[in-house]
Amino acid sequence: MNPRLNKKVVIVTGAADGIGQAIAELFCQEGALVCVADVNEALGVKVAAELVAKGGKAIFVKTDVANIESVQNMVKITVETLGKPNILINNAGIIYQNNSPLNTTQAQWDKSFNVNLDGMWHCCKEVLPFMQAAGEGSIVNIGSVHSFKIVPNHFPYAVTKHAIIGLTKNLAVEFGEHNIRVNALCPGMVETPAAFRWFEESGDPVAARKALGDIHPLRRNAACKEIAYPALFLASDESSFMTGQSMIVDGGRSVVYHL
Ligand SMILES: NC(=O)c1ccc[n+]([C@@H]2O[C@H](COP(=O)([O-])OP(=O)(O)OC[C@H]3O[C@@H](n4cnc5c(N)ncnc54)[C@H](O)[C@@H]3O)[C@@H](O)[C@H]2O)c1
Repeated sequence: MNPRLNKKVVIVTGAADGIGQAIAELFCQEGALVCVADVNEALGVKVAAELVAKGGKAIFVKTDVANIESVQNMVKITVETLGKPNILINNAGIIYQNNSPLNTTQAQWDKSFNVNLDGMWHCCKEVLPFMQAAGEGSIVNIGSVHSFKIVPNHFPYAVTKHAIIGLTKNLAVEFGEHNIRVNALCPGMVETPAAFRWFEESGDPVAARKALGDIHPLRRNAACKEIAYPALFLASDESSFMTGQSMIVDGGRSVVYHL
């Protein structure tokens, strides 16, 4: 069987850890040439080296998506090393736990928008000209169940995640005529290494994990790979008539009114 992303050049932001790492790994397995773009140099170098050791073609470029010059540098290195980007996975994102609106500092508000929203736009802005010239491209913006519903005390995460749905729809409409598709992928609770650290810190990791899992009709949280496969579908030609959409992958969490 042919690999599903044969020689496609893919940028995955926030790929040094969690969901982004799983996407980078799956995409490499499917024949993509992957740029691991992350602000965490130590982890990013390690992840890219592991991908190469497993037979993948990958590079790491230290990138702060909140900084447009840093994104421009990352795209330049990607083009020079791997080729012109065909696919962008806008995955880098941050969340503040236990944050009520009036306790949110201006710095937290600014950082949330700089990384979660500006970061996605910076990357789109830099790859879109290449996609336009090629007459094709696929962009996947990682949203969340917080893109549609509000979970109290995570302010302003949901505000930023709602906003990226607007960015997704707007770019889908503007760039559809160039055969560039822009979709959002919206996970429920995903068990990243950070989530496991958070379970540990709670004092009762088994109970903490179960409590979160029980919110979902499937009675468990997602594994990172369960988000990477839908990302592969949205990135690849298998979803060639889909654009401007939000795919919710949340174990049924968003359809529950009251359990
Ligand atoms: N984990 C979940 O339950 C969950 C659920 C829904 C949506 N999401 C979304 O999925 C995405 C990935 O989440 P995760 O849980 O894997 O996160 P994570 O914290 O495990 O990994 C995020 C990665 O992004 C990188 N990063 C942070 N700021 C950056 C910046 N300014 N520039 C470049 N890289 C940066 C980090 O270094 C890290 O490697 C995020 O957009 C998040 O909002 C996560």
